Order: sequence, then structure tokens, then C-alpha cells
Amino acid sequence: MMVRSLMASAALCGLLVLSNPAVAQSGLELDPLAATGRWSIPERSQARTPPMGWNSWNAFRTEVDEAKVLGAARAMVDSGLSRLGYTYVNVDDGWWLKRRQADGRLEIRTGLFPSAAIEGQDSSFRPYTDALHAMGLKAGIYTDIGRNACSQAYDLHSPNLPEGTTAEREVGLHGHVDQDIGLYFGEWGFDYIKVDACGINVYGPDTEVVRKYAYTPVTPLIDQAAINRTDVSAVRALYAEVAQALTTHNPDGDYILAICNWGSADVRSWGKDVGHLWRTSGDITPTWTRMLHNFDSASTRALYAKPGAWNDPDILFIGHGDFDQNHLTEARSHFTLWAMINAPLLISYDLRDAPQSLMDIWGNADIVRLNQDPGGHQGVIAYASDDVQIIVKTLSNGDKAVALFNRGLATTDVTLTAAQMKFAADAPVQLRNLWDQTGSTFTGETTFTLEPRQTLVFEASGARQLKDGVYLSEIPGQVNVAVDGVVAPEADPVVHRMRNAWGETRGSGERPTYTGWGGAQADATPYDQALRIAGQGFDTGIGVLANSRLEVRNAGHTRFEARVGVDDSTRNIKDKVRFQVYGDGELLAEITTMGFGEASRLLTVDITDVRLVELVARSETMNSDLPLVVTWADAALRR
Ligand code: GLA
Repeated sequence: MMVRSLMASAALCGLLVLSNPAVAQSGLELDPLAATGRWSIPERSQARTPPMGWNSWNAFRTEVDEAKVLGAARAMVDSGLSRLGYTYVNVDDGWWLKRRQADGRLEIRTGLFPSAAIEGQDSSFRPYTDALHAMGLKAGIYTDIGRNACSQAYDLHSPNLPEGTTAEREVGLHGHVDQDIGLYFGEWGFDYIKVDACGINVYGPDTEVVRKYAYTPVTPLIDQAAINRTDVSAVRALYAEVAQALTTHNPDGDYILAICNWGSADVRSWGKDVGHLWRTSGDITPTWTRMLHNFDSASTRALYAKPGAWNDPDILFIGHGDFDQNHLTEARSHFTLWAMINAPLLISYDLRDAPQSLMDIWGNADIVRLNQDPGGHQGVIAYASDDVQIIVKTLSNGDKAVALFNRGLATTDVTLTAAQMKFAADAPVQLRNLWDQTGSTFTGETTFTLEPRQTLVFEASGARQLKDGVYLSEIPGQVNVAVDGVVAPEADPVVHRMRNAWGETRGSGERPTYTGWGGAQADATPYDQALRIAGQGFDTGIGVLANSRLEVRNAGHTRFEARVGVDDSTRNIKDKVRFQVYGDGELLAEITTMGFGEASRLLTVDITDVRLVELVARSETMNSDLPLVVTWADAALRR
């Protein structure tokens, strides 16, 4: 029985074996659930907290130039924003002129970046990056994983597109990964790279853009509407090649890789293993409902973000459209939400001329501090609805940040409970409002009235429900979903579906597109239900599919405890599961043959001196093809 079940789980997870190089390299191909005793995400010295800075795209698109960028940099320094942590200055699409055919070297559009023109020498960004570094800032550059970039398909009116023959206009990384990364990081001194994906998406044979502009046709690896027509492992392998080249050219680890394939190719599940951040959705636009869409694409993914690896719902659009200086409520909400879910804080506005009201938003030191808290715990949704959400983020000192978010257009009352912050209901909770600095205290619960689209955000302290430890769902930054048990990626239906971002309502509507549905969740099941085992509800825990393995970092706790069982929401009511707890690679405890409808059982495990706890849920039978949903209820590290 056991041998059969091992093979069954290996077969179920076959795809995952291939897509997890860490497992493949360790020779454990037959059993992807085998404990490894190690944290499988590469240790990264950069982006230990979400990257902060500025990006040219939402402000200037391809009309970027050196004066605009250095002006933003100067304003960041002079205003004090850089002291708050806004240090990356990222040039997006639009900087390039052509790829020189003699040797493949990229040439800069020196008309836009005059300091790159050096008499008698190849164009170079070195004077520009030197200038940024001298200001105490860091420099970011943009490229594409394919032959051509996004502007070459979408900004065709621009005077700043790459010029020349078909080959000269192939400015993306295709065929030049090592050469370009060496140039950008070795010779030019960049610190950050955003790698877009239009080159493997929109230049298919028979497309009008390819015919009209004589681009090399590339059979798309990504179909944003169909995961089954997307070559997930090929896309991942291309980004992994870039990650490898970055390691080679930056032996000191001083670089950031931002994967920009808009939530396609199941990147929401594997981005953490390859890059420092990965886009979870398509481009943000300066509209409220698109902001909701981008927020939702990342807000349910707390367990996938951690120091060195962040969900990226896109650069900020504060200052424009629905988030301009006449819509400060919306702008503050956008900023607070990004801060709470540990999104990168990349301003994209012409900072040479920014109203003080906007500077005060980006410059809210308290809210920046939440985002930059060294624990790296993304906020978790404590109250979910389409109208109102309550998001709670655990800070490294044990306090909480809590955001009350009114998504809609009606004024509404929102009741916050101590329990939603995992504080005791019978002890006072102190709140400090981070927009107006007012303080208040409540016991049990308190109610606020929120204006349309308003977000209130507080720092909160109280008596912890769990006095001798911490729940795993409070510390997502210390939990890695090494294997999530998803057999076939499915689109996530919980993301807000605004009308086409460009306004049209032709066709049949906006459909769920970003896979990751069924991934592990904090305080919810993988399919966004409340946790429940045999009729008993749990506010706290990790919801995951069977045939999964979670890695949990431990520093000093001596006991792991959870109540485990098959979740009532499972569609598979036929199969049995085995729950196993490993410490530094050794099996410490297990509970076997649990099935649907059985009351939860308690696992208590001594983890004294254990540094890595692994939680494995393994199918023992295969009577159904349906996913088996399991719950590690109240899972906690305790003393
Ligand atoms: C894509 C990206 C954007 C931006 C543009 C540049 O749309 O998602 O963030 O970089 O390309 O062309």
C-alpha cells in the first residue's frame, strides 16, 4: 500500500518534479514530497524587503529621457524619499537604439540619454549609473526575454522605437543573454533588471505586426487566455537562464531580477524560485477597478512572498487618473494596499513637479515602514468580501498592521474585531491611525465609518491569542510552498474582473486568466473557503492540497502543533491522506489514513533545535481524480 501510494503521489506530481530543479538536482525525482531539510528558494542578498524607487513607464512610456529620470532621482534625494528607502531608479522600455550587427552589442539612444554618447567610444550607460550611484541611488534597466520588446508592438507611434534592419531591431535577450547581462551589470553597472515577455507572446507568425514591421516571427510560448497553450516549463527555463547569467555577472549577489510576464505561465507559483519579484497580473492602468484587479492578483498569495521573493501587482499609478491629486482618497488606498501586501513601491510620476499632497502619500514613513518590515510577512486577508476587506500583516515585533478597505462607492460601516488580528477578545487593543496619527483603544470590537473607496490603516498592539508562539499564517515570510499539490494549473476566479482595461466591451467579457488557483493559502482553503474539518471551523491555519510540502523556518521555537484533517470543502471525499512533520529532514511525527468527515487530530511535535520544519500531506489512496483539500488548522510554532 505504501509503495503504491508513493508512486501515486510521484505520478500525481510528475509535472512538479520537472518544474522544480532543486528537487530534480537532488536526485529525488521519484518522490517530490521527500523532505530535503533545506529551504529551497535561493538565498538572496537583495530585495530582503520589497524593492522601492521609481520607474519611468507610467509617467512617460517611451518618452523617457535622461533629464526626466535624473530629475526624478534628484527629487527623490532632495525630498527625503530616498532616505525612506526609495532607491531604485528604473528606466523602462524606450532606451535603446539598436543591436549592432558586427558584435551584437546594444546601442543606446543617445539623443535621449546624452551622457551615454562618449566620443570615440561605444555608447555607455556608465556615466549615467555613476551619477545615480553618486546620489546614493541604484539603477535599473529594462529588457525582454524574446527578440522584441512590448513597445515594438504596442507603442508603434513612438519616435523612440529601435531602428534599422530586422536584426538590428531585435533588442531583447534572445540569443544574447550572457552578452547583454554582462553589458548591463558588468560594464554599465546596473543593479536591477526588469525582463518583459512580449517577445515570446505577441510576435507570432501571421500576426499583422510581424508582417507590417518585418519582425522575425516567433511562435508564442505564452497564450494569456489558455494555460494549456502556454509552455510553462519553457518560459520558466528562459527566465532561469537569465537568473543564472545574473549570478555569473554579479558574484556579490548585488542585483534584482524582476520577472514581467503578467501573471502568465503559472508564474504566480514558481516566480519565487527564479526571481526577486514577478508580476502577478497584466498592466495596471490609472482606474479604480483595474487597481482592484491587480491588487486581487497578489493579495491571496501571501504564502508565495518572502524576503528575496515578492508578488508584484505592478508599479504604482499614484498621481494619474483615478489616483491623481483630485482623488487623494483613492491614491491613499492604492498606496496602503500595495504597502500591506508587500508589493514593490515604485513611484511612476514626473517627480520634478509633484504636488505636496502626492509627496505626502509616497512619503508616509509609517506606511513605508509597514511595507519594509524586516519580517517580510505579506498581509493576509482576515475578512473577505467584494465590498469590504480587512487585511492584517504581522510585524517583526509581534504587533500588527491592519487595513480596512472599502472597495465600493457607498459609505459603509466596518467592524474590526480583536480576533481578526489574532488578539485576545478580552484585553484592550491599541490602534494608531497611520494617516492622521490619532490613537484609540478598544476591547473585543470597534466600528469605523469608511468613505467610498477609503482605506484606513492602523498599527495595532494587543494581547496575542497565542501567548507562547506564533501561527504559521501570521508569518508567511517564513513559510515556503515548496510543492503545492496542484496537478493542472487553473485560472483564479477570485480576481476582480474589470471591463477591458482599455474600455471596450466588445466580445464576450473578461475571464479569469491567472493560474495559481488551488495554491496554498493562509487562513483559507486553496479555493478560498473558510477552513473547516468535520463541521468544526477554524479561523487560523494553512489550507493546501494533498501531495504538498511546505517548508517552515524555525528560530528558537520548541514545539510544532496543528490540528489536521481533510477539509469539509474538498471535492474529493474518497481518498485518505497522511500528514507528516519533518525536522531538518528527519520524520518526527505523522498521522495516517485521514479522510473526509473525520474529526481533526492533534499533532504535537518536539522541534527543539530544529531549523527547518517540513509539513507534508501525502495522498495514501487514489480513488478519485478530484483534488483533496487538507487543512493544517491552528498550525503554530510554540514554546
Ligand atoms: C509591458 C509591461 C509594462 C511596461 C511595458 C513597456 O506592458 O508589462 O510594465 O514595461 O511593457 O513596453
